[in-house]
Amino acid sequence: AKVHYHDFVIQETPVKRLCNTRNIITVNGEFPGPTIEVNSGDTLVVNVVNRAQYNVSLHWHGIRQMRTAWADGPEFVTQCPIRPGGSYKYRFTVEGQEGTLWWHAHSSWLRATVYGALIVHPKENHSYPFAEPTREIPIILGEWWDANPIDVVKEAAQTGAAPNISDALTINGQPGDHYNCSSKETTTFPVKPGETNLLRFINAALNTELFVSIANHQMTVVAADASYTKPFATSVIMLGPGQTTDVLVTMDQAPTSYYIAARAYSSAQGLPFDNTTTTAIVEYDCGCATKPGQSIPPAFPALPVYNDTATATAFAAGLKSISKVKIPEPVDEHLFFTVGLGLFDCHPGQQCGGPKGTRLGASINNVSFVFPSDYSILQAHRQGVPGVFTTDFPANPQVQFDYTATDISHELWQPVAATKLYKLKFGSVVQLVLQGTNIFVGENHPIHIHGYDFYILAEGFGNFDPAKDTAKFNLVDPPMRNTVAVPVKGWAVVRFVADNPGVWLLHCHLDVHISWGLAMAFLVEDGDSELESLEPAPVDLPPC
Ligand code: C2O
Repeated sequence: AKVHYHDFVIQETPVKRLCNTRNIITVNGEFPGPTIEVNSGDTLVVNVVNRAQYNVSLHWHGIRQMRTAWADGPEFVTQCPIRPGGSYKYRFTVEGQEGTLWWHAHSSWLRATVYGALIVHPKENHSYPFAEPTREIPIILGEWWDANPIDVVKEAAQTGAAPNISDALTINGQPGDHYNCSSKETTTFPVKPGETNLLRFINAALNTELFVSIANHQMTVVAADASYTKPFATSVIMLGPGQTTDVLVTMDQAPTSYYIAARAYSSAQGLPFDNTTTTAIVEYDCGCATKPGQSIPPAFPALPVYNDTATATAFAAGLKSISKVKIPEPVDEHLFFTVGLGLFDCHPGQQCGGPKGTRLGASINNVSFVFPSDYSILQAHRQGVPGVFTTDFPANPQVQFDYTATDISHELWQPVAATKLYKLKFGSVVQLVLQGTNIFVGENHPIHIHGYDFYILAEGFGNFDPAKDTAKFNLVDPPMRNTVAVPVKGWAVVRFVADNPGVWLLHCHLDVHISWGLAMAFLVEDGDSELESLEPAPVDLPPC
């Protein structure tokens, strides 16, 4: 196994998109940021130097961080942010995971421009569980604002309204030729006839779940969130923010140009969303391809309509682990979390005003998560600093009701805002029902867990009913992921073993929902031996 060293300088960089040049925050002046490649088993050391005017921290999305919670990154959870002028070395080993992950800023909305791919190749001298592809192509889907994204979220926090939607969707940082001033820079992937390539899709968009298709080409899904899946063929994939999907594509069509296109899957009825389409071009290299702007346009794929929930859920249902898995049992902790939106009077840390109960908010089990502002939870936990958090996060909703009904009483629209954690014993087997609600409006929520992967045992619509839905559990080959798209007005059941000590955030990966409080954290205690305990804090951990 190797040790890889990287220097990441956070800096302001002028970037031109959609006819305007703006200074954005980047890593090393690159947008998207640098791609990191490792083999499973390797160690990464990333020295982050902050030369920007914002606080920043970086998260290695999907990396398990066994015993190294200090390197996980969410600000005020596992560390205080790296202040302007400061630096911090993230050091961790990538173990037992292979496939596509990514890294992104975990401070305010900085991740709109601060993100990149993190590719985990098989262990040295190991191969893929499929034929070696000719090329590997990371394809990062993003969202672009013709404004400073930090201002966008700040303004929304002041008014209590939904933040402005993005002005473009992007593929590898480029909107593509359906947008003004963007056509010349459209991302192009050269390929050769006959080869089979591995496309590594990452949804790095802030607030948009995405359908993706390639004109005329079938995709064979082989992995999701850095876990291998049983190969299955599809013409469209759906990724919630935070999710990755690896597909094999054989270049077996007439040698010309084809669009890859992505656009929103938007499940919240009546809420505005970015309804634009981003494109890139797959160009067969045979001297005969059509270039953008030429008279014969590349072939365009059929994409589902924006609210095609049937296609989104059918795709999720198609994912199975590559082989039979050993399901953790028996369950020690049965948790039931409602996830959904709502309206607030006010949220701590926000400037409030206007009529009561009109500010958009979100919660889990009616608790709206408040990030500490001057301490990190993990440090407070290790150093025994009182008053930063409590461990009374409820295992079940305090009030049970018909979560997916059409008219839910306003009484249930007033969550408490607090920094509540749920404590787990080392090694306990956790089963978590994530129940979407129809409070204010139902929506598909991509729920992401830090420090863990979970098995997705089942998903469905309406209210989870243990009497009949337990029978639907896939206990043979459920997919393993770090982010589950909980169906709109529906539920998902996940299971994991709490074998990684530390403080681990669970949140909706739609960033607008995090800013509204759709988050909580698990506090996983140390086990009995040193090998079951959190490592000591790094000496250069940013001061609070
Ligand atoms: Cu990629 Cu806490 O998120």
